[in-house]
Amino acid sequence: MPHGRPFLTIALLSALRICGFGSPVTFNAQIAPIIYANCSSCHRPGEAAPFFLMSYEDVVRKAKTIAKVTSTRSMPPWKAEPASYAYRDERRLSDQQIALIQSWVEQGMLEGKEVEAPKPPAFNSGWMLGEPDLVVEMPQGFHVPADGPDIYRNIPIQLGQDAERWITAIDMKPSSRGVVHHVLYFADGTGKIHERPQQGDEPGFSGMRLGRKTTPLGGWAVGAQPHFFPEGLAMNLPKGADLVVQYHFHPTGKAEVEKSRIGLYFAKSAPERMLARIQIPPHYSLFSDLKIPAGDKDFVIRDSYVLPTDVDGVGVGAHAHYLATKFKLTATLPDGTIKTLLLIRDWDFAWQDRYFFKDLVPLPKGTQLEAEIHWNNSSENPHNPSNPPIAVNWGEESKDEMGSISLIAVPHVQSDYPTLRDNLAQRDRRVAMEKMKNDPAIAMKVARLLGD
Ligand code: HEC
Repeated sequence: MPHGRPFLTIALLSALRICGFGSPVTFNAQIAPIIYANCSSCHRPGEAAPFFLMSYEDVVRKAKTIAKVTSTRSMPPWKAEPASYAYRDERRLSDQQIALIQSWVEQGMLEGKEVEAPKPPAFNSGWMLGEPDLVVEMPQGFHVPADGPDIYRNIPIQLGQDAERWITAIDMKPSSRGVVHHVLYFADGTGKIHERPQQGDEPGFSGMRLGRKTTPLGGWAVGAQPHFFPEGLAMNLPKGADLVVQYHFHPTGKAEVEKSRIGLYFAKSAPERMLARIQIPPHYSLFSDLKIPAGDKDFVIRDSYVLPTDVDGVGVGAHAHYLATKFKLTATLPDGTIKTLLLIRDWDFAWQDRYFFKDLVPLPKGTQLEAEIHWNNSSENPHNPSNPPIAVNWGEESKDEMGSISLIAVPHVQSDYPTLRDNLAQRDRRVAMEKMKNDPAIAMKVARLLGD
């Protein structure tokens, strides 16, 4: 746990200071606003969190655990530490808010004056961003058993768009909200993935192999609020593309059938600037010697990329499987200043958010982006799927590993887009060619991926 006692002590002192001597913390005055704004969106009826936090009684019942999970920052789930640039809609309690919760519990969880009680938040049951331009549904329901391990499943959905589209937002409505932990969306440019035969009795197929012409379109996690891309930016959806939804199902103790509806929002016209994904290392580390010995507590991969044009950073995201622990992305600007774009210290596969910057981050040509990813393949890692640990290599299954950090960016001026795109493509090719020359095993893996 990164925050020990000193942190709590400082936090407590600051809480005492803000409360003023002698005025106890009450639910109505101080705690309810924190809970309603940061917890209730997930801890409410119909959502995936295991209990509600919608009233004084709800919160008192869980007060001790709440004090614990907020002080360790495991709740609300938000893995990105504060970095050099603020993120949009940051779901992170301040030290003062955490301290207030501690004080409230220690002082006996007073309810406070009724006149001060804020109303529990009301949540929109319709589409939060308004009616989508296209609503699609899973072709068949997926049966999630009452118990057993979590299930990862790719479910393709035919979109039938006869022209290229620009996606400004995606939202989803699970039919059994409790079983859908998170999803990742992909566009399949071949438009053929919906023809792939299903595996077994359920729709879709497992594994992380989606084919060469897939591009990620972001995701949806428990309680996530949908957002439009800022500044008229949008993601490309090729003409005729299929949507692939990669589900993480989590059994709830009761057998359920999930048949979600997904709403897509399209821009009226192509955006002025095109989004680029600068992935470091490329190919999720396929060419970065990702071979983690059993028991290795700190396996590290570092890679960098120098921007060939001025870009504006839009957001950052990280991807790996269970064994990853830490991620860091820094930018060394041409004047030598070092900025942190992403820092995650306690990776959790279950909470793969994308973190969008509050304001676009100007990164001049020549800026060096540096990514650092750590894995812990010892039995000390509670997420390790193998006990005892086994050697783990790069692979698409969740017991294999991969890892990269992506900067989502736009060229500062659109006329630079081809330079940026071609430079990235050349880097990807160069890295692949170099490795494949002297590593036949990698060459086979690549052949398999491309042949998909
Ligand atoms: C994004 C959705 C989301 C938000 C926001 C959220 N929670 Fe949770 N919470 C969950 C889910 C889902 C679980 C079930 C465990 C899991 O999947 O990690 C959970 C579990 C918990 C638990 C039980 C943990 C345990 O170890 O038993 C507590 C306590 C909790 N949340 C409190 C809070 C508080 C307090 C807040 C706000 C400060 C909050 N949560 C915000 C989704 C959320």
